[in-house]
Amino acid sequence: MNKIKTSAPATVANVCCGFDVLGFAVDAPADEVILTLRNEPGLMVKRIEGDGGRLPLDPKKNTASVAIQSYLNQLKSSQGVEIELIKKLPLGSGMGSSAASAVAALVAINYLMNEPLSRKELIIHAMEAERIACGSAHADNVAPSLLGGFVLIREYHPLDVVNVPSPPELYCTLIHPHLELKTEDSRKVLRGSIALKDAVAQSGNIAALMIGLTQHDYDLIGRSLFDVIAEPVRSVFIPGFNDIRKKVIDAGALGFGISGSGPTVFALSKDEASAERAGNAAVAHFKEVNLPTDVYISKVNSEGAKIIS
Ligand code: HSE
Repeated sequence: MNKIKTSAPATVANVCCGFDVLGFAVDAPADEVILTLRNEPGLMVKRIEGDGGRLPLDPKKNTASVAIQSYLNQLKSSQGVEIELIKKLPLGSGMGSSAASAVAALVAINYLMNEPLSRKELIIHAMEAERIACGSAHADNVAPSLLGGFVLIREYHPLDVVNVPSPPELYCTLIHPHLELKTEDSRKVLRGSIALKDAVAQSGNIAALMIGLTQHDYDLIGRSLFDVIAEPVRSVFIPGFNDIRKKVIDAGALGFGISGSGPTVFALSKDEASAERAGNAAVAHFKEVNLPTDVYISKVNSEGAKIIS
């Protein structure tokens, strides 16, 4: 076998209180990669569909090829590869777009090489792609896109990732207003240090969120979904952020926040009807400020990236 098609899902990073250490996968959208092994060495990005011509074809700059190169370096392999990328995730959306392309590419190459590495061992290679994309090798999008479900990054050096069980009926609503925000820019506004009282508040919430998820305690999940680190400085990029939160919570969601570095926002709900009401409330809000939106509702995706054919 020398050709394969894979997909890797969008992800919600941070999940409010888990800045750079927590993320989860959703069912849709998902990027797709078609990978073909070549007889001669070298990586080639043959075509990219769905990006409006904006992503680089240069294999040193594209997140799919950068991830594959890092993987091949570890294996000391000079295998040649041709990459076709079908972008389904909007760029600069906060849904883990660069991560999904890298992850789909890694799952494809690993399969064609007879799976010498586990999914967890692929994470560091996907992180290299994040470094190229935004200057920071964070793992809270790539890890859940690879592994599915909620994933906690306990430690970066050395990498220690933990799968976190979550209630089967937990629904996510992603609302993507048609704005674009580069993660690189969204990281530049972050403060370099935080106050002790904020560290205390964030630690309490992330610890409680872990308990809420594993014990299926929806009220505790809701009480924990607050962010005192990134949200206060990033929410200014999202028109009427505090109003949307109120409307979405009034519509029945457990909690609400910025997905990754934004501008997409997300809500978690304990059933599909509440997830839909939360989406409708957010869409109505963005309509008032003349921003078109896309909405994606799904359960937490437990599977992660997969082989399509
Ligand atoms: N944790 C990262 C950030 C996620 O918030 O910058 C980027 O999608």
